[in-house]
Amino acid sequence: MEFQPFNVCSLMQLFSSVSFGTLCLSLAIITLLSLTLLSSLSFAWPIINIFFCNCETCEAYLTSSWSKNFHNLCDWYAHLLRNSPTKTIHIHVLQNTITANPDNVEYVLKTRFNNFPKGKTFSAILGDFLGGGIFNVDGESWCFQRKIASLELSKTSIRSFAFEVVRFEIQHRLIPLLALSKQNDGVLDLQDVFKRFSFDSICKFSFGLDPMCLEQSLPISDFARSFDMASKLSAERAMSVSPLIWKIKRFLNVGSEKKLQEAVKTINILAKEVIRQRRKMEFWSHEDLLSRFMSCVNDDTYLKDIIVSFLLAGRDTVASALTTFFWLLTKHPEVVSKIVVEAEGVIGREKSKDIASFEELQELHYLEAAAYESMRLYPPIQLDSKFCLEDDVLPDGTFVKRGTRVSYHPYAMGRLEELWGRDCLEFRPERWLKNGVFCPENPFKYPVFQAGMRVCLGKEMALLELKSVAISVLRRFHIELVAPDHRTPRFSPGLTATLSSGLRVKVRDQGTQQQQQHPLLLHKRSI
Ligand code: HEM
Repeated sequence: MEFQPFNVCSLMQLFSSVSFGTLCLSLAIITLLSLTLLSSLSFAWPIINIFFCNCETCEAYLTSSWSKNFHNLCDWYAHLLRNSPTKTIHIHVLQNTITANPDNVEYVLKTRFNNFPKGKTFSAILGDFLGGGIFNVDGESWCFQRKIASLELSKTSIRSFAFEVVRFEIQHRLIPLLALSKQNDGVLDLQDVFKRFSFDSICKFSFGLDPMCLEQSLPISDFARSFDMASKLSAERAMSVSPLIWKIKRFLNVGSEKKLQEAVKTINILAKEVIRQRRKMEFWSHEDLLSRFMSCVNDDTYLKDIIVSFLLAGRDTVASALTTFFWLLTKHPEVVSKIVVEAEGVIGREKSKDIASFEELQELHYLEAAAYESMRLYPPIQLDSKFCLEDDVLPDGTFVKRGTRVSYHPYAMGRLEELWGRDCLEFRPERWLKNGVFCPENPFKYPVFQAGMRVCLGKEMALLELKSVAISVLRRFHIELVAPDHRTPRFSPGLTATLSSGLRVKVRDQGTQQQQQHPLLLHKRSI
């Protein structure tokens, strides 16, 4: 299998976009804009809520007083949801109903799917970043993209293609990098490494192009930063009490909105370069997802949006899942031992066999259970939102007014005793096994990959990446946290869960190899 390498270095220049003329003009018409936006808001009642809702929860949200007791917003929401008799809460100032009740989740994602689309509010929040890509649209455009992507992803040939992509990345990049790190007694940020790994994998898998991020440290860093920045700032828009605030900032091109526009510009340059380079190759002779889309879409902006959505889908989620999985494994050596023993039984003891075959992976039930268990506690997408079109009543009796944002909260759901028992906070892969065989759960109780009509299309690919990396790394290396006293992970705001300080680890092994430097090593300890 050959991939066309492409150099992103030349694409990473940010353009300054300050315009004083625009600023003056903006100030002059700001009143007009405000009035226009106000009239277009959902009948202005979010604004009324801001001024009149002084319930304890809204006050804690607005003053951020929740942060005195909780490290992360998701932990506070989990606490509120745990204590709610219906497992549903309301953040009135956000016009947001949040639920951790599986019956409600099924109702929203399946039974009344048409009454709970992503909606225009959500599309506007993510519009600058994701445009008309699959993550951000409803109706015809969603149907079209979903049909093409699911047709492509359900082909049997795609399975071996995905396996080849992951195998190459592990054997030729990930393992050599960790081996070098161990040799040099260096410290690695595994989160950064996994982002590069998953970026390479999704680009090869979806677009047939190889950005070689795991080999080069510099070229991708601007892009990665822009992607993280766009995700963070878009998520912050969603947390703001009124869209008026970010819309005015965007109009004036100031502060966080200016940063967002700059980040989006960088991302778009890369996505357009993907299209350009793909056109240079004979795309009709290839099997990847982008070629399929390019054969029926001529609009480059639409293609660019499709690419960005797939990058977000495949890079950040997988990297997040891998990062928290390894964070948990460093704290649970007993789980690591069981994974390794199981693998020895299926693959044999030969450590030089870097990767399990596709068939062998299917036999690793404990490993599968450990991956699911890890995402139960640390789902890459902690909260996912829909928009209520017409007044509705959820199965738990909660009335939902039209225009309300309705979110389900996989992070909180994984921490509910009612769903997972008294040991719900423990990392215990065994809960997924019956007589040693992995048994999946009801997807509405475990909506980590969403469920119902818009269930994730990349679940198989994601699990393949997770299990292959875990087995290859754990059989060869001992991974140790640099700061082992971290009890609860701290997350940065973003669309997917990202550890705010990365995952700094030391890699150990007995092997001896030639001493070399690698650009991804953070520093070398002198002995
Ligand atoms: C552990 C990794 C992953 C997790 C936890 C995950 C989770 C999710 C979730 C929660 C959604 C619903 C998002 C929403 O509608 O708001 C979703 C949708 C989607 N995912 Fe994944 N995903 C993962 C990996 C992947 C990968 C590797 C791909 C690509 C190969 C992918 C492709 C997609 C696509 C295309 C959608 C949109 C489906 C639609 O709207 O109809 N995902 N995923």
